[in-house]
Amino acid sequence: MKVRKAVIPAAGYGTRFLPIAKAVPKEMLPLVDKPVIQHVVEEAVASGITDILIVISRSKRAIEEHFHPAFELESELLGKGRMGDLEALKEIQNMARIHFVWQARMGGLGDAVMHAREHVGDEPFAVLLGDTVVTTKDASRTVTRQLADIVEARGGSAVALQEVAAEKVGRYGILGGEELSPGLIRATQFVEKPKVEDAPSRLAVSARYVLSPAIFECLERTPPGKGGELQLTDAMAMLMKSEPLFGLRYDGKRHDIGNKLDFIKANVEFGLEREDIGSDLREWLVGVIGK
Ligand code: G1P
Repeated sequence: MKVRKAVIPAAGYGTRFLPIAKAVPKEMLPLVDKPVIQHVVEEAVASGITDILIVISRSKRAIEEHFHPAFELESELLGKGRMGDLEALKEIQNMARIHFVWQARMGGLGDAVMHAREHVGDEPFAVLLGDTVVTTKDASRTVTRQLADIVEARGGSAVALQEVAAEKVGRYGILGGEELSPGLIRATQFVEKPKVEDAPSRLAVSARYVLSPAIFECLERTPPGKGGELQLTDAMAMLMKSEPLFGLRYDGKRHDIGNKLDFIKANVEFGLEREDIGSDLREWLVGVIGK
């Protein structure tokens, strides 16, 4: 079955990015001139997704505004002949069908995904964390597309993996299993934020999933886990017993915008890639670092 729908959890408080994240959703912080969540939506669309559900909460209204048609602004730009800006605005609305659902209480990533149950129904779906941009060398082979290919061919679910340093395993969902072919792992263990001595590997789940709809039943039966929250990892560990769970060790880059240093690094990297400002930025950086 084709993967057509995606869920983007974007309700979290953003406590790693205060004070800015108090009133400005971290997902609306810019990567050069586009909010992070637009990059995430573009990745979903480039992966063949046509329907997106964004999970939001109070103080995240700016996300809705961003994807809402803005007729007054459009006619103003048209009147002034600013066709490039007009196109950029229209592009946002034409990307996919975008829907919103409210998560009232911060009950964890599993709870956020549970809010998508009605919308998703009985088909496999992608989950893309709204504060993380994942890039690949070949932009048409997004990580989400690669995960969807696995699920469409083999069934079950698939998650994106990156190897992390031993001291960082406690920050991630860590997966262990058998390597079927280079980079493709069939999971036998999946633990949320383990101690390094209990971790089955150093392969960390990294912000992209394609899940079987059977995950909802597992979420329903999963008790609160780490931090008293409903953990998606725990529900997937349950699902793994009845359906295959694959991990894909991908070749690409993860930019976690929810923390300050990575946010600044990502802006520099994306800025350097830009035709309009890249070379000026490079020259300026060399000057600053040279001092
Ligand atoms: C969440 C997941 C975790 C995953 C991580 C990065 O953790 O619970 O399994 O490894 O995202 O994708 P969080 O960063 O929300 O604490």
